[in-house]
Amino acid sequence: MLSLIGIGLWDAEDISLKGLDIVKKADKIYFESYTSKLGCSIKKLERVYGRKVLVADRNLVEDGKEILKEAEKNDVVLLIMGDVFGATTHMDLFLRAKKKKIRTAIVNNASVLTAVGITGLSLYNFGKIISIPFDNKGIKSSYNKFLENKKNGLHSLFLLDLRVKEKNLMSIKEGLNYLIRNGLSKTNLCVGCAGLGSKKPEIKFGKVKDLLKFKFKKLPQCLIVPGKLQFYEEEALEFWK
Ligand SMILES: C[S@@+](CC[C@H](N)C(=O)[O-])C[C@H]1O[C@@H](n2cnc3c(N)ncnc32)[C@H](O)[C@@H]1O
Repeated sequence: MLSLIGIGLWDAEDISLKGLDIVKKADKIYFESYTSKLGCSIKKLERVYGRKVLVADRNLVEDGKEILKEAEKNDVVLLIMGDVFGATTHMDLFLRAKKKKIRTAIVNNASVLTAVGITGLSLYNFGKIISIPFDNKGIKSSYNKFLENKKNGLHSLFLLDLRVKEKNLMSIKEGLNYLIRNGLSKTNLCVGCAGLGSKKPEIKFGKVKDLLKFKFKKLPQCLIVPGKLQFYEEEALEFWK
């Protein structure tokens, strides 16, 4: 059996009781290490779960052969940061397991895609989610997606690139600089979010030029450029000024 378990955004305790029960009984537990970054260490996960956790890099998960072979005979768990399908990469493994007639289980959890609701921006008013890659010189596609959302009056959530192995996570400032280079005005309103899911997430609403000066301390970080604001969204954003 292959169980894909979302473990939430920050602490080892963010796993659900359902997820923890499966983890405790599993034969082997992998942790995908490349789509995001938790606020706690793997040692802490092992302590709270009471189990050994093996780190799986992008190659191991995307190749998938070893994991699927084990799951044919044993109960294998893949722990996924945030929610299971919050990143684009895990559907492939799930479908391949299904095709091989391996039993599967999905245990959902919180995702950055919904955690941004704390800003007060309605999740129902977001457009396409946009990734900003590190190597973005001359890359227009992310900015063009933003223009499309803007045209439709929709909010844009920007997910910022990360290279976990190199301990390099893109900052809000770097994300903003990409948008400015492509034409975003420094007086445009935006919201920066860092460490969502932690006890003290950092959320700042203001003009681009003001957010550029603000020192966000926590990682990971993401960025929102609001579209057309409803009065209740404006009211909520005031809290984060
Ligand atoms: C590909 S997404 C991972 C999605 C994850 N599977 C989920 O469901 O939350 C990773 C990006 O989301 C953003 N992100 C993830 N966790 C975050 C957090 N706790 N606070 C702010 N941004 C976060 C960052 O921009 C990060 O590079």
